[in-house]
Amino acid sequence: MDILNKNSTVSEFILLGLSSSQEIQIIFFGIFFLVYAAIVVGNLLIVISVLVDNHLHSPMYFLLANLSFFDLCLSSVATPKVIADFLRKQKSISFWGCMAQMFFMHFFGGGEMSLLIAMGIDRYVAICKPLHYKIIMNHRMLILFLLLSWTTGFVHTTSQMVFTVGLPFCGPNVVDSIFCDLPLVIKLACTETYILELLVIADSGLLSLICFVLLLMSYIIMLVTIWHHSSSASSKAVSTLSAHITVVTLFFGPAIFIYAFPFNSYSVDKFLSVFYSIITPLLNPIIYTLRNQEMKAMHLLCTLLY
Ligand SMILES: *[C@@H]1O[C@H](CO)[C@@H](O)[C@H](O)[C@H]1NC(C)=O
Repeated sequence: MDILNKNSTVSEFILLGLSSSQEIQIIFFGIFFLVYAAIVVGNLLIVISVLVDNHLHSPMYFLLANLSFFDLCLSSVATPKVIADFLRKQKSISFWGCMAQMFFMHFFGGGEMSLLIAMGIDRYVAICKPLHYKIIMNHRMLILFLLLSWTTGFVHTTSQMVFTVGLPFCGPNVVDSIFCDLPLVIKLACTETYILELLVIADSGLLSLICFVLLLMSYIIMLVTIWHHSSSASSKAVSTLSAHITVVTLFFGPAIFIYAFPFNSYSVDKFLSVFYSIITPLLNPIIYTLRNQEMKAMHLLCTLLY
């Protein structure tokens, strides 16, 4: 192979999808369509409620609304094409379409991880430094958190994609998934990708593992702090914290599995990445609207309709 010839001969990738049976694909089309509609409606409802309702103008809800916005973006990167693909016999994606999918998935994914950390810090200050909460979590701090999230997402995805885009692709172009998944695409390059695989493991896998452990530890500290002060507010704080812990676990869990051990078990990865792109963005609406009485999203929907 000519190492100097960096030009890829592959101009498009073929996605294998989830099944080759026509009937099963129609069923998947229905399921994914409904779930995506629920993601869009649910997350939009959260964003609109927080922006419209003056009672929800607090740092916690602003961060939550921004998280829902990230979810909306994250699930819109690949899912609409995935849904349309279920009705197509040949599921192909152009070279740059594939690169864009991976870029934006890691952009919004990385941003969302940083935002989850910001939400953890917000709750930590509220519970462990309640008297200084208003002073610490001011508007400038919120803007700083948001800027940091977008920057982290950008740096995270760029550091991986700079090398992925430059890989030579000359051989097989079949991706065994429903969208372009970074580990699967890297495997298709017709060159030694060992260093890049290590970079992805460190950049996506290890990073999410470390963030996850730090977040869980801080949530445990908060729970312990709450148990020491038995007040009337504590049961609500515990309910908020358990919502956070559920979101954090379901968000980081699959990411750690996919990226910390990415280059061996494809079938598990495929299942997890589908789970990840479809289920995770639904979590916020489900968890926060069902559990949080303050949210009253359904009430808002009714007000808007009448
Ligand atoms: C994100 O948070 C900022 C800062 O508080 C807030 O002004 C903005 O409305 C939020 N964005 C969304 C989409 O909710």
